[in-house]
Amino acid sequence: MNNRINRQRRKFLHYSGITAAAIATYPSLLQANNIGASSKPSANFHADVEIELTQKAVKIPIFAGQRTRVWKVFGRVLKGPPSTIGNLPDSYLAPTLNLQKGQKVRIYLKNKLHAHSILHWHGLHVPAKMDGNPMYAINHGETFVYEFEVLNRAGTYWYHAHTHSVTAKQVYSGLAGLIIVSDKEEQALGLPGGKYDVPIVIQDRKFDRQNQLVYGVNMMQRMSGFLGDQIMINGKPDYILPVEKRSYRLRLLNGSNSRIYKLAWDDGSPVTVIGTDGGLIEKPETMPYVMLAPAERRELWIDFSNKPIGTELTLRSIPFDGASMHGGMMGGMGGGMMGRRGGMGKGISSGRSLPLGGDYPVLKVKVVKHASSNSSLPARLTPIKPLHIRDATNANKARTITLSMRHMSALLNGRSYKMNDIQPDEVITVNTLQLMAFDNGFHRSMGMMAMPHPMHLHGEQFQIIKREVSPRHRAAHATISEGLVDSGWKDTVLVMPGEKVSFLKPFNDYKGLFMYHCHNLEHEDMGMMRDFLIK
Ligand code: C2O
Ligand code: CU
Ligand code: CU
Repeated sequence: MNNRINRQRRKFLHYSGITAAAIATYPSLLQANNIGASSKPSANFHADVEIELTQKAVKIPIFAGQRTRVWKVFGRVLKGPPSTIGNLPDSYLAPTLNLQKGQKVRIYLKNKLHAHSILHWHGLHVPAKMDGNPMYAINHGETFVYEFEVLNRAGTYWYHAHTHSVTAKQVYSGLAGLIIVSDKEEQALGLPGGKYDVPIVIQDRKFDRQNQLVYGVNMMQRMSGFLGDQIMINGKPDYILPVEKRSYRLRLLNGSNSRIYKLAWDDGSPVTVIGTDGGLIEKPETMPYVMLAPAERRELWIDFSNKPIGTELTLRSIPFDGASMHGGMMGGMGGGMMGRRGGMGKGISSGRSLPLGGDYPVLKVKVVKHASSNSSLPARLTPIKPLHIRDATNANKARTITLSMRHMSALLNGRSYKMNDIQPDEVITVNTLQLMAFDNGFHRSMGMMAMPHPMHLHGEQFQIIKREVSPRHRAAHATISEGLVDSGWKDTVLVMPGEKVSFLKPFNDYKGLFMYHCHNLEHEDMGMMRDFLIK
């Protein structure tokens, strides 16, 4: 409904032009008025790569028997290397976009869905107008033209629908895929490449007996977030990764709506992390398990060269506390209520409910053959320039964003999402470094409504400075803390109940609206999302 109002406003602006007074009152209207410019390519942007992404409703074979209705993105390279697009036939996932740092990219997004929609490039630092803000949603038959230069360093990014109030449903239906950026610095490291560099997109889904996706959330599931009972890897149930006796780079993305994973190898081997949201970290980090909240990425290194052929290894999600409201009670109830899926097309996890913070398999790996080559793990990966608090324009006074849930809504600083609703504390000067914090009941207890929130900011990546946990939540926090990776560049950070996370975020280069929100997609759609105006 809001969207319709916005569209009308946009049309109105388009025909009437906006006055200086209107801009002063609603600075973001300036953005909305730019919409016309993005339905056609601009003459002064010389693209190295041009692609077309078409969103369509199709049926694909996921299980034996009936095909599954999904919303799928189809990609086509119009200009540039054919490898720019890696289509994934038979998966609901959108194609993988393989980009190079420094490339100028033009993307024609064609919406052939009978729904309005827009795509956002999660983790990429692009101009506001190219960022997929919900106000740019297009209707059936319309095209949105994105143009941006890839400024990000090598890393695993992703893209997904960002449509006002229906992001969760649209991502769930299939509107999400990976973006892999590479650069010279990374290539020089000689990390496992080609088929030894494996993307692993982890999602949970629920299917009915006709193999159709189920997404009907009641109020309780909205508050806690949707949880499926079927783990999908790269859009497939029963996924087994066959590997050679050598080392691999596994790029993990948690593309789930709300599920948080605590991942550990079932043979007790530690997990070796080499990268996170914004690419490689300085040096490999080894931990007993690794946390992966919605929208986060982790790159793992694993060497199978000492494992006999036939070895099977499973990456499991193992139990942790503090995951859901009512101290875990709701997670259990929610899980039980998800129901059981019997019959054909069983995945590794079907026929069981998967409560958040439970114990269940996520990824199976099988060593199948000898390898003719191997690569060794570099002791140092990439240098990362640390940001310093003293360089923040607000070094003495952090911008704190309090997270809260009440009266069936999820709030940021007590506010819910609205288009064109920039408040004074949401205006940031361009080309500044800001000291910021997410406070999830560290200063004021959330009581029964204490929940984890994977918090995300659009635009440039940030660096985490510190985590503080209130005494009441320390025991629960200790069940996840060894699996946090706070080094390197981040765009999404898991903020547990009773926790405050401080970070430094640069706001360079681009003016306009950039969102900050919870990446629990049910929370996002409930309004746990706001815009910053960079000016
Ligand atoms: Cu991954 Cu605002 O999004
Ligand atoms: Cu994003
Ligand atoms: Cu949240």
